[in-house]
Amino acid sequence: MHKGMDVISALQFSRSDIEFLISVAEDLRRVVERGGSLDIAKGRIMFTAFFEPSTRTRLSFQFAMTRLGGVVVDLGPEEVSSMAKGESPEDTLRTVDGYGPDLIVVRHREPGFAAKAAEICRAPVINAGDGYNEHPTQALLDVYTIWRVFGRVDGVRVGLMGDLKYGRTISSLSYALSNFRDVEIHFISPRELQPREEVLRKLDERRVRYEFHEKPDEVLERLDVLYVTRLQKERMKPEEYERLKGSYVITYEYLKKFRRIPVIMHPLPRVWELTPDVDVLPQAMYFEQARNGLYMRMALIKTILGL
Ligand code: ASP
Ligand code: CP
Repeated sequence: MHKGMDVISALQFSRSDIEFLISVAEDLRRVVERGGSLDIAKGRIMFTAFFEPSTRTRLSFQFAMTRLGGVVVDLGPEEVSSMAKGESPEDTLRTVDGYGPDLIVVRHREPGFAAKAAEICRAPVINAGDGYNEHPTQALLDVYTIWRVFGRVDGVRVGLMGDLKYGRTISSLSYALSNFRDVEIHFISPRELQPREEVLRKLDERRVRYEFHEKPDEVLERLDVLYVTRLQKERMKPEEYERLKGSYVITYEYLKKFRRIPVIMHPLPRVWELTPDVDVLPQAMYFEQARNGLYMRMALIKTILGL
């Protein structure tokens, strides 16, 4: 990690980068939870440009920068910018970059868009999700959550379930986990939603242990974490979505059948694949996971701005 770097892919993070960011996140969490305020980013400006919907990533980045004492400028919805007149996202970014933001956070439906934005812009660019490709800062907060629950990441057995083909959190989290020793990844999905070849190839290069399962039952009791994901409806053909809808649902009733229930994570938003009755279980960690995103993103902004 270094000042001024772009964050495009979770493959950029080494084990020591992740450990460093976790320790910074923990320090910042202590300050915030004590009610203390920070002004280390005073005079710095972060520009957030979300060309795809977002609640957590957009707002936790904005809260993070504000908590550090910096200022946020947001592009706002498409209809209030000149994109409504047909301007491209590339021209939009080039223009705003010229106003001198210290950092740009961008989400776009096109795989590879964040890398393109980093070439266009002078300011460092953070990928907040580029289509089905990657969501590297989600991977950081996911690993941070695992570390907070287990006190380690080495040796964890993680079941990644749902839409592993179009879900960008899956590729990024697998890449981040590949830095740790003896991690087991269990991909749980219908056959047609298994991870893309390019993702598996990278995991092979990194000698990650993974297995495939079509149903969670066969592996659930062996898992430390069950990471549930939503079908990425916006990236599927409608008939594909209709066919696969309801093909896996995690409910309280379902989980109760098992002697040992793993920690349940989900990047959110959830739709029908994880029912709200699961929320009462002590293993339900997804809202905590979302909260961890605030501290991890504070740590990332601090590091990239060199504060
Ligand atoms: N919020 C996550 C993402 O943007 C997961 C999801 O939308 O299902 O990738
Ligand atoms: N987890 C996540 O990226 O959520 P949003 O899509 O709401 O930002």
